[in-house]
Amino acid sequence: MKIDYITFVKIMKILITGIFGQIGWNLAHIARINGHHVVGTYHTHLVESSFRVHRLGLMPENLETGLLSLPFVPDAILHCAAYTNVDKAESEKPKAMDINARSSNFMVSYARKIGAKLIYLSTDYVFDGQVGGYNELSIPSPRGVYGLSKLLGEAPVLAYEQGFVLRFTPLGHGIRLPHHPLSLMDWVLKCARDGKKAPMFFNRTSSPVSSQDLWEVISEILSDKQNQPLLHVHSDIKDLMQIGREIERAFGLCHTTTYGFLSHNSYSKIRPFKAHLSSNFTQPASLLKSLEKLRQQRKSYEF
Ligand SMILES: NC(=O)c1ccc[n+]([C@@H]2O[C@H](COP(=O)([O-])OP(=O)(O)OC[C@H]3O[C@@H](n4cnc5c(N)ncnc54)[C@H](OP(=O)(O)O)[C@@H]3O)[C@@H](O)[C@H]2O)c1
Repeated sequence: MKIDYITFVKIMKILITGIFGQIGWNLAHIARINGHHVVGTYHTHLVESSFRVHRLGLMPENLETGLLSLPFVPDAILHCAAYTNVDKAESEKPKAMDINARSSNFMVSYARKIGAKLIYLSTDYVFDGQVGGYNELSIPSPRGVYGLSKLLGEAPVLAYEQGFVLRFTPLGHGIRLPHHPLSLMDWVLKCARDGKKAPMFFNRTSSPVSSQDLWEVISEILSDKQNQPLLHVHSDIKDLMQIGREIERAFGLCHTTTYGFLSHNSYSKIRPFKAHLSSNFTQPASLLKSLEKLRQQRKSYEF
């Protein structure tokens, strides 16, 4: 680890698992802009880029060997790789558990061996969504396999003295690769482009954040300013309709969002209804500021 004496930033070697995933890709760019050395791992999607990358599968049988054969020793690991298909996880429970839960044990033992910080990205899906407003002391109770697998993956990380878990809901990302699914923000933008209405469920709540908001908390952890192992990263909002309106405002759209109602069906059965988070340890991010920053990053978008 080096110290840049001009800016007093500790320059770190950061390993990002799942670097070509939505969040890994954005965090990689933000970390690099902040002066850190970034190396990544990928699994099936390999994208041409200026990052040094290595293939790494998270299935338990290969993971330990894979980690130990990486040709560098990071100071910190941002563990973004995960099984993220919420619906498919219901029929692929063993796979989801292996990738999201069992792999955490290997990530922790690797981090311990090399003395690195380990930051595990988790989700609001660990809660059942009956009441919302969950903070770090709220009792998780996931509705589906995905939420359960992520919750079980948190445990070994929280038992590691240099382990951190960040729970959050994504809003949108500054840069998007062609294989990425649409974020909430992109979906509203696409509806506007297609001349369709974007229904925002009034019976669902959320407090989404951008990758930049996530980074603010990550950088506090990296610089030892934050030492709480479990953190909720959230915005100053919970009303989905208002989120839609703010996206419209930030991107100059006109009446794209409309009231929608999330009914009880197979989609909602495995997702929390009231999913907004709160925190005892982090300040809420301003949704409007996050969107304005995202819009600047997306200037080249076709709007
Ligand atoms: N997206 C959300 O709504 C959301 C919400 C809250 C929290 N999170 C958490 O945030 C983190 C990043 O999510 P994301 O949105 O960036 O997801 P994503 O775009 O689906 O990226 C997931 C990454 O995991 C990799 N991966 C999947 N299976 C793997 C395996 N068996 N071995 C190794 N790598 C594997 C994928 O690589 P390949 O594509 O190459 O297979 C991809 O790079 C995850 O921990 C997720 O649980 C996501």
